[in-house]
Amino acid sequence: MLWIIFVLFLVHPSMQRRQTFKCNDYVTESTSFHRSGIAFRHGPHYVCYLSNVIQMSSVIQIVHDISSHSYVDGKNGLIEPKEVGAIVVKNSNLIIVPSQLFQSFKSLLVFRASDVNLRQISRDDFKDAEHLTILHLDRNQITDLEDGLLSYLKKLQRLDLSRNQITAINEETFRGCSSDLYEVDLSYNRISELDYSTLIPLAHTKKLSVELNLNYNEIKEVRESHSVSHLTFEALLLKNNLIECFTCPDMKIGELHLESNRLSVVSFDNCSVEYLVASKNHLRWLHIHNDLKGLVASQNNIRSFVISGENSEIFHFDLSENENIGHVFPTLKTLGELQFLNMSYSYIGVLHEDTFSNMKDLKYLLLKGCSIEIIPFEIFGNNKHLITLDISDNLLESVDLHMFTGLDRLRLLDLSRNKLRKLDGFERIRLIMPELREINISNNQFECHDLSVIMKTFESIGVNVIKSHDGPEAKKNVDGVACF
Ligand SMILES: *[C@@H]1O[C@H](CO)[C@@H](O)[C@H](O)[C@H]1NC(C)=O
Ligand SMILES: *[C@@H]1O[C@H](CO)[C@@H](O)[C@H](O)[C@H]1NC(C)=O
Ligand SMILES: *[C@@H]1O[C@H](CO)[C@@H](O)[C@H](O)[C@H]1NC(C)=O
Repeated sequence: MLWIIFVLFLVHPSMQRRQTFKCNDYVTESTSFHRSGIAFRHGPHYVCYLSNVIQMSSVIQIVHDISSHSYVDGKNGLIEPKEVGAIVVKNSNLIIVPSQLFQSFKSLLVFRASDVNLRQISRDDFKDAEHLTILHLDRNQITDLEDGLLSYLKKLQRLDLSRNQITAINEETFRGCSSDLYEVDLSYNRISELDYSTLIPLAHTKKLSVELNLNYNEIKEVRESHSVSHLTFEALLLKNNLIECFTCPDMKIGELHLESNRLSVVSFDNCSVEYLVASKNHLRWLHIHNDLKGLVASQNNIRSFVISGENSEIFHFDLSENENIGHVFPTLKTLGELQFLNMSYSYIGVLHEDTFSNMKDLKYLLLKGCSIEIIPFEIFGNNKHLITLDISDNLLESVDLHMFTGLDRLRLLDLSRNKLRKLDGFERIRLIMPELREINISNNQFECHDLSVIMKTFESIGVNVIKSHDGPEAKKNVDGVACF
């Protein structure tokens, strides 16, 4: 919990120009993060704001004055330098890190200097920052990271270097980093190459597992220049890069994001990924491990995929917006653990009776815009746990609701945007689907008389018919649902 108490502050007389140092937030305790059963607490301490610094010499003066006098505050009396836990630099032009701060404020836990025109940082800047846990230097002009940059920061947990001009990280960059470092943000930089061996210090197994954010860089290739093993990542984020081929060595990744690259090949021969997002690429086939639990592969051109090993654990699968996915079905049928399947706007065409019969835990099935003309009568016979079924935007001309018999938990059925003229079994809808709350039948081709009978029946038994916005404009409609 974060408690902030505003206290009055005193501007030290020695401050000329408009530089200010104000300590007006008090953090009593803040549990900022839980990971692998570890909770991190920051506090109690003061948060101080250093503003309008134009010259480094003036920072030195401020620091000197404060640290030699203690800091008088109206409510709480003295603030001693050791009670200052966080310093935030604002509206300033620093160029380099004011390392004197770390000498004077020995218990500093948090240092933020975002958007202050930092050009350069070096390992020695942090020689005295032994307690620092959070370091934010985002939105600056930093281009290089010195070897062993973090080696003095033995308590560091979170590092933000996003939105700089960093062009490379190498094998020495993270050497000696803290074993508590769990978040490294290098997004929006200009890194063009990634070598797995670079990541050994960040991701070795004795360390807290890390989330490394490399989104929005210029990475073309992810290499393994020499063999690495046993790396562990909470998350590896590589969204919006230029990667064409992704392979990985022996490592374990909780979440891997590869969306919006140029991938045509992804291969996980020796690595284990729990949740993979690979949408917006050029993938034609996928070779995935049986320990993958979630896969989002929308907006590719996937035609088939292979799963190594038996008994896939995948429960969330998004294959939407791929072109013709007809050939995925033989493998898809083996996915017995699926709970969520989205194939919307991929071409399916013909569905078979056994397409979903292995997916006994399926809860959400989205088949919007799949060019489906016919739904085999027995197709959902095994999907007793379905909650949402979306078959909208297809080519269905008639549906017999009896085909949904056994879907005792279904709450939402979307049949809108088809060519329906008939809806058999509608009088028995309550018996067929006792939990149904909502049905969407708008944008079909019902005759107005038939539609009004259907709507009245639904109304009388408490099934909510979703109204679309086509009603008012359509010449003929029943309660806002167009008809002919
Ligand atoms: C996977 O591991 C095997 C055995 O450890 C090794 O021979 C092979 O080269 C590895 N493949 C990749 C792509 O790293
Ligand atoms: C299913 O896929 C479509 C198309 O990519 C997307 O718009 C929709 O949000 C997805 N549905 C869910 C519930 O994720
Ligand atoms: C019902 O269907 C129409 C037409 O497809 C769509 O515009 C509307 O968003 C749907 N409503 C809901 C709540 O799904």
